[in-house]
Amino acid sequence: MVPMKPGVRRRASRPLAAYDLFADLAATPGREVIADGAMILRGFLRDEGEAILRAIDSVAARAPFRRMVTPGGFTMSAAMTNCGRAGWITDRRGYRYTDVDPESGRPWPELPALFVDVARRASAAAGFRGFVPDACLINCYEPGARLSLHQDRNERDFTAPIVSVSLGVPAIFLFGGAERSERPGRWRLEHGDVVVWGGPARLAFHGVVALAEGKHPLTGSRRFNLTLRKAL
Ligand code: SIN
Ligand code: FE2
Repeated sequence: MVPMKPGVRRRASRPLAAYDLFADLAATPGREVIADGAMILRGFLRDEGEAILRAIDSVAARAPFRRMVTPGGFTMSAAMTNCGRAGWITDRRGYRYTDVDPESGRPWPELPALFVDVARRASAAAGFRGFVPDACLINCYEPGARLSLHQDRNERDFTAPIVSVSLGVPAIFLFGGAERSERPGRWRLEHGDVVVWGGPARLAFHGVVALAEGKHPLTGSRRFNLTLRKAL
């Protein structure tokens, strides 16, 4: 056995998890823990919402929002597009990431530097270090659009967290456990709120309740959501 230097405290033998700081950070005002490994950062990006929406517009000019079809043949009610090295799609053949937009045959637009920076800051604020996303799914919800309970599980690496940014009209976010049968909690997400989940919550089931009629000065009746991921 290697003798320890006096005054040096032995570190716990478990590996240092990325979410080790989670409990300390959770005590910060404006943070709400919704599960072990999952946290809402209230108003974290309120002041940057407008710049993020401009970046969404420039992505959508090159890769327009579209309503995709599930493998079961159901047309999703939220419209989606992507930016980054990989983009999430669904069609009759299944759910997966692609390096090109199937509508245009061209690579997805580059991940805006602002999105990479936002992902880094938000994940760090929730205790996840070194998160560098390579994919961003952008959802657009009109009144009535919803997203049924699902896991984000087409990524190769589940050690990286998911960073989810809400903009525009508020929505009710559902966040459950690792089993679909676990009844999810309901959380109201407003413009500028960010949800980060990873570690023990990485494969939690989540979804969005049908969007209510509303009006936001920057988005009108719509809600936008970015989910920043490490897909590759
Ligand atoms: C998602 O799970 O892809 C989006 C969640 C949201 O819109 O808040
Ligand atoms: Fe998701």
